[in-house]
Amino acid sequence: MFRENMEADVTFDSDDAGRFDPDTDDAYSSTEEMAVVESPPKIISRGVDVFYGDTQALFGVDIDIRPNEVTALIGPSGCGKSTFLRCLNRMNDIIDGCSVRGSITLDGRDIYAKSVDTVHLRARVGMVFQKPNPFPKSVYDNVAYGPKIHGLATDKDDLDAIVHSSLERAGLLDEVKDRLHEPGTGLSGGQQQRLCIARAIAVEPEVILMDEPCSALDPIATSKIEDLIDEMRNNYTIVIVTHNMQQAARVSQRTAFFHLGKMIEYGHTDTIFTNPNEVRTRDYITGRFG
Ligand SMILES: Nc1ncnc2c1ncn2[C@@H]1O[C@H](COP(=O)(O)OP(=O)(O)OP(=O)(O)O)[C@@H](O)[C@H]1O
Ligand SMILES: [Mg+2]
Repeated sequence: MFRENMEADVTFDSDDAGRFDPDTDDAYSSTEEMAVVESPPKIISRGVDVFYGDTQALFGVDIDIRPNEVTALIGPSGCGKSTFLRCLNRMNDIIDGCSVRGSITLDGRDIYAKSVDTVHLRARVGMVFQKPNPFPKSVYDNVAYGPKIHGLATDKDDLDAIVHSSLERAGLLDEVKDRLHEPGTGLSGGQQQRLCIARAIAVEPEVILMDEPCSALDPIATSKIEDLIDEMRNNYTIVIVTHNMQQAARVSQRTAFFHLGKMIEYGHTDTIFTNPNEVRTRDYITGRFG
């Protein structure tokens, strides 16, 4: 659980805190400056420690996740990538004995504040897992489930429209439009993963977390998901864990390298892959360990 002082550590305290107003903020005082000023981070993590029982898995992770970018988390097995990803939508809450310390804000608001409804948080910060995990329901119901429980559809036509547009945005509609009422588990692995992406998109998230989303897929299905991730960045903020260095280089704008529970280096993907600051980063991306 968070320390008592956690909420006090968070510097933003109003709904609009952390969002820049282009009309009033000095940073945007000229068009020329606008071109170089980056958007404020969507997610800010500061000093995040995670423990499983008495064992510490993450040590003081500081990272700013930028909106409308793909951020890749890389590093050897067991370094804490999934653990960190789960901190971002409080999925660690459901792991017995797991405790999180530090501060994580979404649009400037502490996601670990007592007032936060985790069901609502997980709709804003959706997740796609390594192994496609459709519900044992039809293709249609897999996608309709979230909008139904969050009350996003006013009637059946509205729900149909949400299901269709989510499948379309996930690049799956053409392949399944005649099998909407067949079981989701009957699709191919790559189709199931896109169904899970459609399911995540259907509740209108702002951030999508993906934990090795292509590791169970063949190169063709992988390439479809990578294209989709690239398109989705226009509308969402994406954080992806991957063991595939080429994939990180292809799909992400920023990369964070983790090692032994610490975030070692974070920066623009091209810099991390061509000219990293840290020897450990270079050794990992060139295949010397991991
Ligand atoms: N539910 C859990 N209970 C106890 N320890 C855990 C749990 N989940 C992860 N750990 C431990 O926390 C550390 C980080 O694990 P994590 O799964 O975050 O690593 P990872 O970087 O995602 O690895 P991989 O690339 O193999 O998926 C490891 O030492 C792991 O054994
Ligand atoms: Mg993992």
